[in-house]
Amino acid sequence: MIDKTRRNILKTGFIGAVAGSTVISGLGGLCKIKEAKADTSEHPYRYPAEGLNINDTRQLAYYSLKGIAVTGHSGCAFATFHAIISQLADAETNGEVDKYGDFLGPYSQIPTQMMEWGAGGVADYGSICGTLNGACAAIGLICTNDQAKKIITYLLNWAALSPLPTTPDYNVVNNSDIVTSIAGGNLCHMSVTNWCLAAGKASGSIERKERCARLAADVAGTVVKLLNEVLNEDVELAQTSPAEATGCIDCHSSSNSFDEGGFTMGKMDCTTCHIDLGKVGEEGHYLSLIKKPE
Ligand code: HEC
Ligand code: HEC
Repeated sequence: MIDKTRRNILKTGFIGAVAGSTVISGLGGLCKIKEAKADTSEHPYRYPAEGLNINDTRQLAYYSLKGIAVTGHSGCAFATFHAIISQLADAETNGEVDKYGDFLGPYSQIPTQMMEWGAGGVADYGSICGTLNGACAAIGLICTNDQAKKIITYLLNWAALSPLPTTPDYNVVNNSDIVTSIAGGNLCHMSVTNWCLAAGKASGSIERKERCARLAADVAGTVVKLLNEVLNEDVELAQTSPAEATGCIDCHSSSNSFDEGGFTMGKMDCTTCHIDLGKVGEEGHYLSLIKKPE
């Protein structure tokens, strides 16, 4: 049973890898792409029973962002993705797979630089924070979709609300004191801007870049901590999103009709952007600003 699953997984893994790189082309004969399908009913790829080391991961993410871990490749999204996936790839290629059975995952086939575009909130657009984007991709590779969404929900809430970055307990190449700030959301734009305003430093400053390298370490370390807890210790993670906390999605969710407010959706804190809507009565606002088109 497990063997069959692993074979399916192998094929699926190759599809993803083929899209990202030519590295795999020599292995093309091993898989018939048409037959490949994701089996999400079981934990798709394997994760070491003893977990990964949180401190090693923090250090690796920091170095990866700075282009020290892999020459020629750097950036926030690459940093978190590489810090997690390359350790699993190393476990495979070092022969440690024996400890986990004959197949840990397709990790050593994944070109981790495939996430470099995530830097600066996707090609510098300031949308989702690259450290989170890379981390989510890694989580999606390791976990089932159900597990991934739970871990990601916890991760996004934590990243939006925690004072970051934490003080490094790993080697840094820049010893500056870095101010902490609360991102208030998961956008690179919010995260960087709120930090710049708290620190009084420009977004192009050395300190801002140092801050994001330390943020990458915090995010990658936290993801490994969560993977260790959820996959190996069955820990349940808190799942309350900011939008649930404000009550906005009582009405503004995809489970409601258009007229009840179901013309939008999301789990971010609505009030960080819609700042004048703090006081919503029980009946909603009913300003009749929004009407269903005839
Ligand atoms: C990151 C900032 C941000 C967050 C967080 C956010 N929104 Fe928005 N929202 C916007 C922007 C920007 C627009 C587009 C405004 C425009 O085009 O005039 C918008 C538009 C809307 C509109 C249409 C408003 C209008 O007057 O036409 C509604 C309704 C809305 N958002 C509800 C929500 C709800 C509910 C949440 C929480 C689940 C939320 N938003 C979270 C930024 C945000
Ligand atoms: C009791 C239901 C309900 C709740 C709770 C609610 N809304 Fe609304 N909201 C509506 C409905 C219905 C409309 C569309 C009718 C209208 O435009 O007044 C609307 C319209 C809006 C609009 C566009 C019109 C405007 O007033 O600018 C925004 C933005 C919005 N809601 C944001 C929010 C945010 C943010 C929260 C949480 C703080 C929230 N809503 C909570 C029902 C609700």
